This record gives sequence, structure tokens and C-alpha cells, in this order.
Amino acid sequence: MPSIQRLGILTGGGDAPGLNAVIRAVVKSATNAGIQCVGLEDSFDGLIEQNRSRVLTPRDVTGILRLGGTILGTRNTGNPFEYPIATSDGTRDYSDRVIEMFHKMGLDALVVIGGDGTLAIAFEFCRRGIPIVGVPKTIDNDIVGTTNCFGFDTAVAFATDAIDRLHTTAEAHKRILVVEVMGRYAGWIALHAGAAGGADAILIPEIPFDLEKVAERLRERDRWGAKFSIVVVAEGAYPTGGKLSVVAEASAGRLERLGGMGALVCEALAALTGKETRSVVLGHLQRGGAPTSFDRVLATRFGGKAVELVRAGDFATMVAFDPPDIVARRLEDVVGKTKTVPPDYDLLRTARALGVTFGD
Ligand code: F6P
Repeated sequence: MPSIQRLGILTGGGDAPGLNAVIRAVVKSATNAGIQCVGLEDSFDGLIEQNRSRVLTPRDVTGILRLGGTILGTRNTGNPFEYPIATSDGTRDYSDRVIEMFHKMGLDALVVIGGDGTLAIAFEFCRRGIPIVGVPKTIDNDIVGTTNCFGFDTAVAFATDAIDRLHTTAEAHKRILVVEVMGRYAGWIALHAGAAGGADAILIPEIPFDLEKVAERLRERDRWGAKFSIVVVAEGAYPTGGKLSVVAEASAGRLERLGGMGALVCEALAALTGKETRSVVLGHLQRGGAPTSFDRVLATRFGGKAVELVRAGDFATMVAFDPPDIVARRLEDVVGKTKTVPPDYDLLRTARALGVTFGD
């Protein structure tokens, strides 16, 4: 078994509630096992630039369990293999520099906390000899191999609360309220928050929608006297034969930014139903604030398991939730894939059975 004495830790991609809880769990359990932790700032930038790292002791992570964001900072545009250079329109490959810095800093292994993009980068470095354990993070819950990512529960809880609040105006004014949620190309947040908030229509990327079908369901509600409706729209949802609503096209090292489908749906439903209709975009509010107790526990378990894997020398792995256990997956089995809502998912079937329309 390799002797690990110095462990680097970084957070990459978009922030998600629970990142600090993982950092805390890693630093405390590693330190208690005699391993020194080094926090790397702003994702892989901490291994590209000098002086962008610091030793983390249990003292440094005391009190961060309940905090959103990440004490290490993060970025989703810093892929070392395709690093965007401000002064030119191209990218540069800094992967050799990362490997060199890793050795120069006397690190023996890395814990990389991130979403699909960051884990794919981690896997590339594993192939080039860096011992890494990955920890899956995303509010989108779209990482293959794990039932849950931390951050998802918090995002769903926030979106559910927002839907509850929107019910007030929807009922009082007999309006249609459309709420757009995040999730990229997966409908997990929309489906779970929609189900928890009692939405009447839920539009997700996995099921292209026909707005006439949605409108007909909402008219039906009017006929039996409901008079108001709540429509949840995933940012990645799109109409049958239509396309995604993109705010900004993909650029060097950066994915396209989705958004705006909620407003389009709102406008169309107003025309189709003749009702007063309003839309709200929850946006980054879903990523902010304190993690729920579920996410704190999951993140803590992920951090503890990551250190166990480091100590066992089980690298090129990702910790994962396979209820009731926390397990290890091979990174090669999870990167480059997206976990979308399966057509036979029981919540999908149940929502349909309860009368929720998905616009199909
Ligand atoms: O992956 C998390 C996520 O919040 C997605 O739901 C969303 O599409 C994207 O990140 C937004 O990214 P940014 O913070 O770069 O706008």
C-alpha cells in the first residue's frame, strides 16, 4: 500500500451546497490519520500558478459545514488541457505544468471534487499517473454511477419552497405561474421540485413537449374549477421538433449556457389559454445558501470515503451513493456520460398517474 503523506484537495466546476462539508470531512479525517492536506485554489489553477495553495488544518475547516460555496474557490473555465488564454483567442495545454507542480509541491495524491467536466479532467490526469479520488458534485444530479450528488437536495428544497410561494399569487389571481429551474440536459431538479411542489405541468429535456397539450391540461383544470396552474420548466427542456434555448454559445473550454425557455413557455401559454401568465427564473439561487441536512450528511460521507480510498491506494475512482452504502466506482465508467431521467422512472409514472402533464 502506498504511503500517502500529503494530499491535495480542489473544487472544480460550478459551486454546489455541500462543497465545504466535503472539504471539512477530508481535512479532518485525513489529518486524524496523519496525512497533511493542501487546499488548491480555484480548481486546477492551484496547480498551474505558484502560491495558489495552502495547508489546511482542522482549525481551518471548523465551522464551514453549514456554509454554501467553497472556501477554496472554483471555476468552470480552467481545464488545464484547454486553458483559455486572455491575450489570444486560443487555448493552451497546461497539463504538463500541473503534473510538474503536483510533484514539486510534494503531493502524493489528490481529492478532486467536481461535476462531469472536472471528473473527466481528473480521469485524464489519472491516466498520466496522478493518483486521484473523485467526489461527484452537482445540483443537476446528472453524474452516472451515483444515485445522488450533494447539492441536488438543497436545490430541490429551494425550488420547492419557491413553487409553494408562487402558489399564493397563482391562486389569488387565478394565473398560470411558470417557473424555470436549472439542471442542464437533465430534468431531475424540475421533476423532483415539481412533484414536491405539486406542479400541474413539468417540462424536462428527456421529454420534448407540445404546448397545445400542456394548454389543454391547464384549460381542463379551469373547467373543473382549479382556475390556476403551476408549470415547472427545466432550462434544458425544448419543444418537439424545436431546439434548446441558449443564452450564450459554447466557447473555449466552456459549455453553452442555457436559459429562457420558461419565458417562451409563459408567452405561448398566455396566447393558447387566454389567461394571465407570469414567469420566474430561479437561476443561481438554487446553488446558494446552506446545504440541507441530507446534503451535509452525504457530503460528509463522501469526504470520509474519499480519504478511506486514498489510504487504501484505490485511485482512479469516484465515491458514489448506492443506498444505503457509499461505494467506489471506476472513473473510467462514469466520465463522459450524463445520467438523465429514465422513461420508466417511478416518479415520472406516478406524476402522470396523478394527472401531471409532461407535454407529450
Ligand atoms: O451544472 C450546474 C449549473 O448550475 C447548471 O444547472 C446550469 O446550467 C449551469 O451550472 C450554469 O452555469 P454558470 O454558473 O456558469 O452560469
